[in-house]
Amino acid sequence: MSLIEAYFSEGCYIAAACLFMLSLKWLGSPKTARRANFISMLAMALAVAPSLLPVSKTHGGALVNNLVIILGGMALGTTIGLVSATRVKMTAMPQMVGLYNGFGGAASLIVAAVEFVHKRGELGAGEAVPIFLSVVIGGVCFTGSMAAFCKLQEWISGKPVLFAGQHIMNLVLLLGALGVAVGLCVVPAAGWSLWAFVGLVAIALLLGWLVVIPIGGADMPVVISLMNSYSGMAVTATGFVLRNNVLIVVGCLVGASGIILTRIMCRAMNRSLANVMFGGFGATVEAAGPAGARGPVKEAGVDEAAMVLSEAQSVIVIPGYGMAVAQAQHAVRELAALLEKKGATVRYAIHPVAGRMPGHMNVLLAEANVPYDRLFDLDQINEDFKTTDVALVVGANDVVNPAARADKSSPIYGMPILNADQARSCMVLKRSMNPGFAGIDNELFVAQNTMMVFGDAKATLSKMAAALKEA
Ligand code: TAP
Repeated sequence: MSLIEAYFSEGCYIAAACLFMLSLKWLGSPKTARRANFISMLAMALAVAPSLLPVSKTHGGALVNNLVIILGGMALGTTIGLVSATRVKMTAMPQMVGLYNGFGGAASLIVAAVEFVHKRGELGAGEAVPIFLSVVIGGVCFTGSMAAFCKLQEWISGKPVLFAGQHIMNLVLLLGALGVAVGLCVVPAAGWSLWAFVGLVAIALLLGWLVVIPIGGADMPVVISLMNSYSGMAVTATGFVLRNNVLIVVGCLVGASGIILTRIMCRAMNRSLANVMFGGFGATVEAAGPAGARGPVKEAGVDEAAMVLSEAQSVIVIPGYGMAVAQAQHAVRELAALLEKKGATVRYAIHPVAGRMPGHMNVLLAEANVPYDRLFDLDQINEDFKTTDVALVVGANDVVNPAARADKSSPIYGMPILNADQARSCMVLKRSMNPGFAGIDNELFVAQNTMMVFGDAKATLSKMAAALKEA
């Protein structure tokens, strides 16, 4: 590589790393998230550009082949990315992210495997360690992400798969992988090293699958975020294998942001990461017995609900997973516009784990053009419920369950919730008395000031809007 090419490569890498950091910052707010996506596309182009340089002169005639492979790969990736981005439904977004994480892990594993096979005889510890880290973390990330994908896509049961000695078996596999890796570091060129390496890959792949199957389907967003962090760590290790600075920096960014997001989600559910990974949540809840809130329910029709809303001066909408399932975000905005026309203030309370992925509700409401300044985080709005006329719960359940505040025996005890029960009147839009993800009773549904409006959220909201127009 000439000096100019080296400067060009490093310049591109530094610019790409800076732009990736800027895009991470901008992704923190819905106002700047779109810009962040464009910036990261630009950064990715800069990161890839040096790979297109004619440096393979040193490899004789390899240049043409390399370019064909690189451009062919880019064309294929772009096509798959474009098709999936436009076709995949919002509700399937978590598994799509999971799939992409898995591919990142697989790529790290493959690159490290190729390096091992080529350099086996001359590997020093400094090169061997990142290769084995890439293989183990990348392998775990690949099959772990695939297990998460299969659970969310309902290709396999979303229920936790538990069996005796499971965690001990996983620990033995991890220790086995470490043992093989240390052995390979000490004698990388031994006759058996290739077979030992194949064994290492197999253990990593098996471990990834086994670590994720005991986790309940609805905890998959946490797993996916964790796997995202693993994919970043694997990429960092691969960066050391290839001595590529942009891979090291970007891998660290992904690794750190993934683990921060994982922590935020666990904290919002008041659960530790260990509880998510090893607690078998879902199985324990099922064992607690059948769900369904007890007590008389005040059921209301859409006309009655519309009448109550038409009298309200202040309304707080609480969207949940059911809004995503019903795709009711546009209907919510239309109803809100009607209420505002009548002089009411309408705000939206966003729980950090409402729905099934981080920012799920924000994305849906942004899609329906709800202004960002009407969206409030739990801490910002929770005190205001006491002075609010109507809390309109649209397909939310666990995130408004008062048991989290009061019932010490509840599996969600301690999770911060939105205080919908403290509003003067609470209106819950859902199809039945069925529980949410946590599978437990919700006393809010039988509270004195709650009216249940049963039906698909989108249909109910549209009917309520029609009734309001006539009123
Ligand atoms: P859930 O507690 O899961 O409740 C969703 C409710 O939506 C259900 O009770 C369901 O009742 C209703 N629903 C489904 N389809 C509907 C439709 N078409 N129309 C109207 N209602 C419909 O949701 P939530 O309150 O958003 O809480 C999220 C849960 O997921 C929390 O327990 C959280 O800990 C967990 N979780 C979230 C994340 C992230 S990052 N968001 C990560 C891990 C775990 P019906 O069947 O009766 O309609």
